[in-house]
Order: sequence, then structure tokens, then C-alpha cells
Amino acid sequence: MQRNKRARNDADQLEIDDRKFIWHPFTQMQDYVAETPLIIERAKGSYLYDIRGRRYLDGVSSLWVTVHGHRKRALDSAVRKQISMVAHSTLLGISNVPAVKLAKMLAERAPKGLTKVFYSDNGSTAVEVGLKMAFQYWRQHRSGSHKKRTKFICFENAYHGDTIGSVGVGGIDLFHEMYRPLLMESIRVPAPYCYRCEKNRNRPHSSEEKNGVCSCFSCIQAVEQALREHAGEVAALVIEPLVHAAGGIIVQPPGYLKRIRELCTRYGVLMITDEVAVGIGRTGTMFACEREDISPDILAIAKGLTGGYLPVAATLTTEEIYSGFLGAYDEFRTLFHGHTYTGNPLGCAAAIANLEIFDREQTLKKVRKKAELLERLLRPLAELHHVGDIRQCGLMVGIELVKDKNSREPYDYSEKMGIRVIMEARRRGMIIRPLGNVIVLMPHLTFSPAQLERMVAITRVSIETVTQT
Ligand SMILES: Cc1ncc(COP(=O)(O)O)c(C=O)c1O
Repeated sequence: MQRNKRARNDADQLEIDDRKFIWHPFTQMQDYVAETPLIIERAKGSYLYDIRGRRYLDGVSSLWVTVHGHRKRALDSAVRKQISMVAHSTLLGISNVPAVKLAKMLAERAPKGLTKVFYSDNGSTAVEVGLKMAFQYWRQHRSGSHKKRTKFICFENAYHGDTIGSVGVGGIDLFHEMYRPLLMESIRVPAPYCYRCEKNRNRPHSSEEKNGVCSCFSCIQAVEQALREHAGEVAALVIEPLVHAAGGIIVQPPGYLKRIRELCTRYGVLMITDEVAVGIGRTGTMFACEREDISPDILAIAKGLTGGYLPVAATLTTEEIYSGFLGAYDEFRTLFHGHTYTGNPLGCAAAIANLEIFDREQTLKKVRKKAELLERLLRPLAELHHVGDIRQCGLMVGIELVKDKNSREPYDYSEKMGIRVIMEARRRGMIIRPLGNVIVLMPHLTFSPAQLERMVAITRVSIETVTQT
């Protein structure tokens, strides 16, 4: 009795202190402090438990990072084992055992030609490193004739993180417009939406492509035009391969990425693929680029790399780019970039264990089966009056809510429709997050069929309750 009372008091105090001391990311704090916060205490498998003992299905993989579930024994013990050796040691000028082993594993698994691994600690920095690599590569190119290559081609509606460099190649006005005066100048090309066909105006190709309707590839032509006009001043093109994730789970049509690769090669522009969201098995292959059988010049990964345990990111590149940075000490060709926790041994040990589980448990095969099941489960939701589109790639799903199905009129931002649906889901025991009016489902890769069913059922009833259809 006494213990229960103490636990309740502790929980009350945590709820007070959370609102008093924490400024939460991507969160309107005025709304946040008006509600009782949800504070997670522990997790197991697919479930998170709050400080009141309530259980929630983790439908967002704790922000797209959890891979094999929470408290996976092999991951727990890899981190514990590493703690007994060393928790942190720098990678500046010296090395550590897990960082070396992980780099080798990544190079062995990555798309062909990506043999050099540069570590950092989150998705934004992994992209930022890629931008600096590409920029510096051309600036110090031995031919001396590429110094004007200082810009990047990037996509409308793209998201590459929140540091100033990665925001500079972002294209989500809601997040990025405020910072425009701080940002480098980039060349923005249309997202893979169809903006030419009368029939599919402003719709992503993906949903139509499934029915074989839209294949005009007008968005590719826009990329080619930008390359034709600007190739001499462009260091690299930056793309989220297969899916514009934070932009609303916009799935690219098959063949799109391959054609972008061909164009980059044709116009001599480096290709940077940001696999932060789609990498590490999320779409059914270890790297999304494998789905289109392409190799970029630079590839960024983060999120799922450690199975959702610790913040480790990596930027992979080719021998050719790497060798452009070699030279005498006083030539200053060094990549002058590095973070304090770069190559953290605990994180790298978790990442090694994570990749080993993929091999041991044949995770990727299971992902493809689960993705098929998820697609079947989601199909009936397309009939709901306020569901305008359902987009899926592997185990990434975006359900777009609309005011009117026929005109696809969106809900006004002020209606907070996405937020209301996810709060309803929370009351029903599931944690998910929206991207505006798009409800995102991102189960980890080992959700059971029953858990996938439950996730879809809660989503359906939450949408119905909030939109009253
Ligand atoms: C494609 C992509 N790139 C970069 C990032 C930024 O990653 P982080 O939040 O770890 O900085 C994200 C995050 O969602 C992302 O989806």
C-alpha cells in the first residue's frame, strides 16, 4: 500500500518536473503543458510502459529506430559486455574495437563501391557530413577545374534533418522556411509527384502506379533540366531513396531512383542518398538502394543502425572520394569534421549485434512477408470516407486524411486532425505520430501478425472516431 502511494507520488512529481524543465522537440509547448504528459518508464518487445503502468503498442518504432523490438536480449548483452570494456574513447586520431568491426561489416553489406565509413551520431549529421564531403571533394579536386561546384540539387518536400546544412537541402516549408535566411542556396526540384498528368495532378506517382495509371515521369524531366542547366555549379544531388519519409511517406515510382542515378552519372554530379529513414531493413532490403540496384557516391544511415539502442550514424563513400582527401599534412586536404562521440564503442557494439541478428534470424525475409500482410490489412481502410490515400513501402505506411475523398481537399492545419487521431490511438493503447494530416505507421521489423492486426485495428477505429465516419 505504502509502496503504491510512493510510486504515485513519484509519478506525480515526474509529470510536474517534465512540464517544468523539458522543452520537447517538434512540440508546441503551450499545448503540451496543458495536458498530462506521457512518460515512458520501460519497454519490452513491441510495447512501451508508462510510469502509471499502462501499456502501449509502439506503432512508431520509437521514432523509426527500433528494429528487432525493445530489450532484445542480444542487444542488451552486447551493450553490457562493451560497458565492461570501455564506454567511450575518441575516434580522432585513434580507434576502438567495435568501431573497426562495424565499419568492416557495413562496407561488406553496403551497395557496391561504398567502402569507407565516416561516423557521426544522428541522421542530420550523417547527411551534413555527406554534404561537406561532396563540397570539399570538388573544391580540392586535383584538376582544379571544379571549384564552382558549390551547390546542391535537392527535392521539394524532402527532409534530411535539422542542422543548418541538412535544413539547407530540405524542402518542407513548415519546418524549413523560418530558417531560409541562414541557409545555403540550393537548387530545388519537384518531389516525385505527378504534376503534369491532368488525371493525377499533385498526387504522388506511387498510389497511381500500383494501378498502372501514371508513368509519365514528368518529375524526372524536371531533375534532368536542373542538371542540364546547373551541372557545372553542382557538387551533388541529395535524395531520400524510395520514400520521402517525413514529407508524408511519399513513395517513388519503381525505376525512379535508377533514373536519377543515371542522370547524376551522365551529368557528372555526385549522388548522396539519405537512407536515415529507409535503411537497415525498413523497406525489405538492408539498404533501400538495393531495391533499384544502384550505388550512390555517398550514403547516410542512422536511426535503425543500432537497432534503436544508441545514437550512431555513418556516412559511407567510395575510394575515389576518400582518396581526394589524401595528401601531405600541410596540404590541408583533411576532412575537418568530427563529433565528440563519433564512433562511440557502446553504440558500435549495439550496431554490430543488430546486424548479426539480421543474419541469424533472417529478418529481411520476414519483413517482406509482414509488409504483404500489412498491405492486406490496410486495404479496407481505403474505403473510409476521410482516407484519401494509403502509401506503403515495406514497413513504412502513411495514411492521408482528407476532408473530402473526391476532391482530396485537405483538412486545415488548425483542425489538428493528425494529432487528434494519434491521441485517440493513445487512449486505445498505441503510440503513433502524425506528419500533418498523414498518420504514420512504422512497426518495428519483428511485429507479430497479431500485433500488425492490432495496430491497424486501433488506427481504423481512431480515424473513424475522430472523423466520425
Ligand atoms: C530521411 C531522414 N534524414 C535525416 C533525418 C534526421 O535524423 P536525426 O533526427 O537522427 O537527426 C531524418 C529523421 O527523421 C530522416 O527521416
